[in-house]
Amino acid sequence: MRIVVTIGGSIIIRDNDYQKFKDYTDVLIEMKAENELFVVVGGGKPARDYINIARELGASEALCDDIGIDVTRLNARLLIMALGDAAYPVVPHNFAEALEYSQSGKLVVMGGTEPAHSTDAVGSILAEFIGADLLINVTSVNGLYDKDPEKYPDAIMFEEVTTSQITDLLAGKDIKAGTYEFFDHTAIGIIKRSGINTVIINGDDPQNLIKATWEKIGTTIIPD
Ligand code: UTP
Repeated sequence: MRIVVTIGGSIIIRDNDYQKFKDYTDVLIEMKAENELFVVVGGGKPARDYINIARELGASEALCDDIGIDVTRLNARLLIMALGDAAYPVVPHNFAEALEYSQSGKLVVMGGTEPAHSTDAVGSILAEFIGADLLINVTSVNGLYDKDPEKYPDAIMFEEVTTSQITDLLAGKDIKAGTYEFFDHTAIGIIKRSGINTVIINGDDPQNLIKATWEKIGTTIIPD
């Protein structure tokens, strides 16, 4: 299978520590043995910290986004470092480069591309661009909820959710740098228009990534 995995910054760099990079390395190499794999890495807290400093200094929202993109690319470099020979050594800056680098047979790891969306959107555009069979969104909660499960203990997780339902949930949500919601508008639009098979899973345990290729876990998004 051709698989795109997006790993949220909240997972990969949550503790400002190397361990999650190492844990993911083993699992990604295992998956790579049977699949063609592309990984998109998020920015997490370091990205938000840099964006906040830039905003305080008077940067425009697009410039704040650009700073965030740089941080996602730094995280991508760390994962490439951890993957060693299994990964292509350069972070692609766009989708054509990602495809080009994948011709090497190595795992391709990228961060953001351009302002005004999150790495979730990058993952969905990449999945569309390369004709992926599956898009796996790795996050810090078990799936997609009707409201923020970290704020509301009564939040309910969807086992299945349609793209239209997500669009309704996203209505009126913030579109500022560093604050794109669980799934941004761009990501959902792309999944809908190309009918991309998408699942959202909890990445605390990297083994969930392997499970998601053959077992129903987390939330499945149904393009409608
Ligand atoms: P993330 O994708 O990590 O954003 O990119 P996020 O959704 O806020 O965070 P997590 O990782 O899920 O917690 C970090 C920031 O970088 C900019 C945005 O400002 C984003 O909030 N960014 C990222 C872009 O503008 N374009 C991109 O392609 C990627």
